[in-house]
Amino acid sequence: MSYYGSTEYMHNSDFILAMKDIRKGNLDLGWLDKGAEQIEVNADNPKRGLTYLDLNKGSYGYDELPEVPRGPRSAAPRGAAYDVDHQADMSPELNRKSDVWAYKVASFYEEAMSRQWDASTDVPWADLDHCERSEEVEIAFAQLCTFFTEVEMIATDLPAKWAWRMNNQFHEVKGFIATQAIDEARHAEVFRKRALAGGVGLMEAMPQAEHSLKAILETDTYSEASAFMHLLAEGNILTMFRFSEFISPTPVDKRMFQLVMQDEARHVSYGLQHLKWVLDKTPERKPQLHAALDEAENFSISQFDSALFEAMIVLAGKGTKPDQIKRGIEIVGTLQIKQIEEYFQRLRRSGFEERIAVSKFRDLLAMMTLSGKDAELPV
Ligand SMILES: [Fe+2]
Ligand SMILES: [Fe+2]
Repeated sequence: MSYYGSTEYMHNSDFILAMKDIRKGNLDLGWLDKGAEQIEVNADNPKRGLTYLDLNKGSYGYDELPEVPRGPRSAAPRGAAYDVDHQADMSPELNRKSDVWAYKVASFYEEAMSRQWDASTDVPWADLDHCERSEEVEIAFAQLCTFFTEVEMIATDLPAKWAWRMNNQFHEVKGFIATQAIDEARHAEVFRKRALAGGVGLMEAMPQAEHSLKAILETDTYSEASAFMHLLAEGNILTMFRFSEFISPTPVDKRMFQLVMQDEARHVSYGLQHLKWVLDKTPERKPQLHAALDEAENFSISQFDSALFEAMIVLAGKGTKPDQIKRGIEIVGTLQIKQIEEYFQRLRRSGFEERIAVSKFRDLLAMMTLSGKDAELPV
């Protein structure tokens, strides 16, 4: 324990007297008058049910929430009556709306809650035994799953690290990143299960990836962490998931990637909409975001030289024969160009187009001599 109460209640005569009074039936009933605003709420779409969007009204709503919401720094729910002098100060560090908010965040939360799936039962694991693939392809796939498992574990930690630092006035964001934490825990689960169910087990943990993941965890502000993780890293992962579905050795794997992709797309969208919000409301933070993305891009580039890169080439070419490797290099080259193009697209959509001109990926793109002409990835 580090937080101790200011009173020893069993030795406090006022408290004991008041407690005895209530037990005798002498109720105060002052709280009966403390109700806050009463509003009418109905599900806008009965099929979807009663959502946070339907509750976006008056003092309960989020549209009216100012950039700096004065008031409780406690667990008082937004809209509740509160006595600021007596509430506990939870010492939240993120107290400005632009620190955490994103356009459409309530919708992202609702979507996350309605689209949960189960890694134990929603992937047809038993079919894996009947799917033919070569041993080297299965090993390469296990390497890919090992990498994804590492990434997903840190993606679970990151939202968990920031959730309790957010002011409870922003509960839609806290709720959303709580759904992200469980999504990522499930992703770590599904990739671990896939590596083991295929018979190969886990392969090599990747130092390059881990340094990058550590950098994500240790960013100074939530917005920098979000730009690094949601927009850049998870954006890259989303492109990789689409690529992995495309080159999946079995229909079981295709199903797995379809499931993780729907979650990942949501996380990336939140990141894009948070960055857009930050830039719209507090454009003075641009230099800080540029500096964070300078290093984020640097770490991301380090992964272009690793066992992961080779595993993807073997998977894409379906083997290690020279013509298969040649074909694999072409396909993976296309993937890498796509990763960069899609990142630039997200920067444009979030209103941070000026980033593209100074991005480290521009030089990388220019350096890429791999021809992706023959290879095609699904759009
Ligand atoms: Fe994930
Ligand atoms: Fe994610």
